[in-house]
Amino acid sequence: MTFPTATLDGDALRHNLAAVRRLAPDSRVLAVIKANAYGHGIVEVARALATADAFGVARIGEGLTLRAAGITGPIVLLEGVFSAVELQQAAAANFELVVHSLEQVSQLEQSSGHRFDVWLKLNTGMNRLGVTPDEFSAARQRLQSCAAVGRVRLMTHLFGAEETGGAGTQEQIARFLGLAAGLNLERSIANSAGLIVWPEARTEWVRPGLMLYGISPLPEQESGHLGLRPAMTLTTQLIAVRRVPTGEGVGYNAIWRAGRDSLIGIAAIGYGDGYARNVGSGAPALVNGHPAQIAGRVSMDMTAIDVSDVPNARIGDTVVLWGEGVPAERVAPYADTIAYELVCGITQRVTRVWKNS
Ligand SMILES: Cc1ncc(COP(=O)(O)O)c(C=O)c1O
Repeated sequence: MTFPTATLDGDALRHNLAAVRRLAPDSRVLAVIKANAYGHGIVEVARALATADAFGVARIGEGLTLRAAGITGPIVLLEGVFSAVELQQAAAANFELVVHSLEQVSQLEQSSGHRFDVWLKLNTGMNRLGVTPDEFSAARQRLQSCAAVGRVRLMTHLFGAEETGGAGTQEQIARFLGLAAGLNLERSIANSAGLIVWPEARTEWVRPGLMLYGISPLPEQESGHLGLRPAMTLTTQLIAVRRVPTGEGVGYNAIWRAGRDSLIGIAAIGYGDGYARNVGSGAPALVNGHPAQIAGRVSMDMTAIDVSDVPNARIGDTVVLWGEGVPAERVAPYADTIAYELVCGITQRVTRVWKNS
């Protein structure tokens, strides 16, 4: 049994990178591939996106995995390093470092032997990482005169770029551009939503993650509207099909009840595969290419689907849970989450198949 399967598509990744470049033709692209490339497979994604200008990862282990796989281009540690050991490892692997605190500035001042290219991160309102506007100028000057620092770039991160017209984003961008003005340093502001919605955030570098995987970051527009193609399609098969008379329940706690005499397909996928338990009834799926809806509670290995309106539904039929034909962002609200979490959550039990890698 080789299902469930996540089919990953290198052509879709490259298509989406091209879409980024069309939106931000004057920017270089730091492709964000942390968290195993949002569940897609960090090494394969880095290979498929070999023409990206740099890769961004969150943890040093992710960067080391890339180097071990022979990825030689620029890799940026988006949180920097947190110990002397990590600093040594980062030097040996020639990683670029985000510097988001004065502690990290001091750490570099005490280091020698390797010149790091760094990205000084400014907190413009997210209040997660980044030096404050008050600390910014001194931190920059210290980095620029630090023997262990080569090139200095500037960055910030937007907290709600998908909120079109959001005053908060406008303020963040203005604050960042104001502090960066006249410094003649390369700047990076935009994540996926930032680069789609906020032209002024398309500075020398953009940092897309989600849209590279063909998922829309915008609540009101699906990937197809944005010209993106899903890079991951999660499929399985029906392993049973049964008639359920009007009024009977389906699955644990019978939280779904047949409102008519129904045909229920049992799909071989569950939360043990990363198809979240809280995906609710009504969530979309495709069975043999026809629209169908999740019925009742997702269990560990199985999920019930109302296939009453699917012609000739039978055992062995292909089920698409998300990806081509069912954007992950359409499924996510039924699980009270975002598509990021869905794709990151695919477990080891799912067979991964690459096409056009
Ligand atoms: C610092 C930073 N930049 C860029 C990104 C990419 O964001 P997105 O996947 O929304 O494009 C992330 C992801 O969370 C991030 O943490």
